[in-house]
Amino acid sequence: MKILSSNLRETVNILSDLNYHDGDSIGNKLGITRSAVWKIIKKLQDYGIKINSTKSKGYALESTLRLLDENYIKKSLSEQDMEITVFESVESTNDYLKNLGKINPIPRICLAEYQTKGRGRHSRSWHAPFGQNLTFSYAYPIAKDVSELAGLSLVVGLSVINTLKEFNFPKKLSLKWPNDILYEDKKIVGILIDVVAESNGQTYIIIGIGINVNMSHDEENIITQKWDSLSNILGSYIDRNKLFTNLIKCLIAYLNKFEYQGFSAFADEFCLYDSLFDKQIKVLSGNSEVQGMAIGINNLGHLLVQLAGGEIKICSSGDTTIIK
Ligand code: BTN
Repeated sequence: MKILSSNLRETVNILSDLNYHDGDSIGNKLGITRSAVWKIIKKLQDYGIKINSTKSKGYALESTLRLLDENYIKKSLSEQDMEITVFESVESTNDYLKNLGKINPIPRICLAEYQTKGRGRHSRSWHAPFGQNLTFSYAYPIAKDVSELAGLSLVVGLSVINTLKEFNFPKKLSLKWPNDILYEDKKIVGILIDVVAESNGQTYIIIGIGINVNMSHDEENIITQKWDSLSNILGSYIDRNKLFTNLIKCLIAYLNKFEYQGFSAFADEFCLYDSLFDKQIKVLSGNSEVQGMAIGINNLGHLLVQLAGGEIKICSSGDTTIIK
């Protein structure tokens, strides 16, 4: 794992006007040598960032890029009592927080410009090119039993949708139970929740969120699901630092409400975004499969599926697909 250095971030900042800058002038601004600048440029290129370089003019970014800014993030979230770490690269932000061992009582957030082993649900992988998207995890202690957490992923999804409202998308975002956020049936956000129950009875939650922000295409053709990104939809580059801090503020407010009022306080809001409602669906959970009509959720956030004979099945976990 590598912490995101200020020299890497500032080099990108200098190049963000898309003009050419030579190694000496970048080095002078940052107080580093020309060869240190060259190493940074090489690193960015190895991460897949397109930088043109000519002997006479220096280096120029091909398209807009702004890296995560730890100072901005910490300042914007200074009222929240939490530890924040920004990685240049890490295996997985969820695994990093999980492997810290006993998670301390202060909430922790870690973000990464790149994950080498980003995890999705059901052992899938999660891919995000360096510097384009948001990939982060939030770990905090919750005063709830594991059995009361069924609706948590929906609450997290609703907080993301609420934050994204500021962009006024031409069409509506929807939430596909239990935790995908879709735009016109294409995935733009994935949520992965790990629960750590300690022997002293304390439960910790690790919420991992991946948002396709500025990813314009998947060069390596790694992503198997249908996907889209905020910038593709809106046709403009999105400031990830601002989006992230807005989202954390909203997420914390939603999590507090969930902790004290439970999922029922969110049931009406969920109905506004339920992408499965009134659709024929299939729910896969382990080896069991349920097929029927999605008819909403109960007060715990469990999915209700009406079978052909009229019986209603309650699904507390699983992967859902609409049957065409
Ligand atoms: C899914 O839709 O399958 C869930 C994807 C979750 C991806 C995020 S990115 C940040 C965090 N770290 C991971 O390794 N995964 C989650």
